Amino acid sequence: MTDKKSILLIIGGGIAAYKCLELIRRLKEQDISVTPVLTKAGTEFVTPLSLATLAETEVHTDLFDLKNETEIGHIQLSRQADLVVVAPATADLMAKMANGLANDLASTLLLATDKDVLIAPAMNVRMWQHPATQRNIDTLKQDGVKFVGPEIGDMACGETGPGRLSEVPDIVTAIQSAIHMKKGPLSGKSILITAGPTHEPIDPVRYIANRSSGKQGYALAEVASVLGADVTLISGPTKLPVPSGIRFIEVETAREMRDATLANLPVDIAICAAAVADWRVKKSAGQKMKKTKEGLPQLELAENPDILANLSDLKDKRPSLVIGFAAETETVIEHAQKKLKKKGCDWIVANDVSAKGNVFGNDETSIHIISAKTVESFENVSKEDAAKQILLKAAKELKL
Ligand SMILES: Cc1cc2nc3c(=O)[nH]c(=O)nc-3n(C[C@H](O)[C@H](O)[C@H](O)COP(=O)(O)O)c2cc1C
Repeated sequence: MTDKKSILLIIGGGIAAYKCLELIRRLKEQDISVTPVLTKAGTEFVTPLSLATLAETEVHTDLFDLKNETEIGHIQLSRQADLVVVAPATADLMAKMANGLANDLASTLLLATDKDVLIAPAMNVRMWQHPATQRNIDTLKQDGVKFVGPEIGDMACGETGPGRLSEVPDIVTAIQSAIHMKKGPLSGKSILITAGPTHEPIDPVRYIANRSSGKQGYALAEVASVLGADVTLISGPTKLPVPSGIRFIEVETAREMRDATLANLPVDIAICAAAVADWRVKKSAGQKMKKTKEGLPQLELAENPDILANLSDLKDKRPSLVIGFAAETETVIEHAQKKLKKKGCDWIVANDVSAKGNVFGNDETSIHIISAKTVESFENVSKEDAAKQILLKAAKELKL
């Protein structure tokens, strides 16, 4: 018996396939062994010889390989690793996975495996945004497939947008997290964090927003990952770089944030750090609203979903620890204690966002972690330090 971790790496036929060579090197540095499987299209982009040399093992390409079937067999191959990783995951492979196709070695292994599957998609932005791919993504997430990326950026095809393969170190971190190699007080724990503001459209060019920069939520995601957690960050629009080694989901409105949150359960800890708009415009205009002589437009508001209360109320999938944030401008602790009761969450992290508190967009903050029985205050700390205090307390709580 050995403690050495191993992954089955399925390499799809995308332009980013060459990056799997670097991925194999980095994984080996971390003492993770790699068995490569190359799709037929994949052989157009990277050679079995390069893969076999770097991985120091045989590369599997063919379902009907007599030698392999007699020696190991595709079922055994699908089960002997700790994790199955698909990088790059092509639109085609994702479609096959979502529909249960098994017409080549890669798709058969993905259907036959009893191990977790982590995919790193990479494709042209239009392919990624196509409704068919988006449907497949939803299905795969429901099936429990983990995602790393894709990132937003320039592509080999000259277009820009979501669809770039995640950077190799981020894929390595996601793999380590999936096989519980990340060491730290939160290793083995999954955390979902919401961050940033939401934008509620008035018409195609205007929206209702707030001053949240997202810095506190992003700091929580970054620190949680460093402490060993498996992190999902669901963020409204911000200008911040995405922390590495986490799952990142970008949303715009409160309703999208609620849907993404519920779709990414179960988790051990949920931290609602986003400044979700309380209201949206009931009927946003399809076209840009124009000034008219008839007077001012009347905007009727509707209440947005209360994500924190929704999470706290869940029966089956309620996280063990639900933490909310309260941005208050007066009598901060009293208001936060009321919010704790009203929402039914476990802790409220309160901060003073009055002009005096100067929290929005700033790198410093003062927080009060409020539970039913205790108040712990941390004054004038960086948002990273505040995150660390919250997360170390959470780690302690979950060990009790
Ligand atoms: C030059 C070139 C680059 C390609 N890059 C990608 C890509 O990045 N992502 C993708 O999903 N498909 C890409 N394709 C299309 C796939 O190769 C094609 O869908 C193939 O059937 C995928 O097979 P596989 O999923 O079995 O690997 C590319 C095709 C060509 C010719």
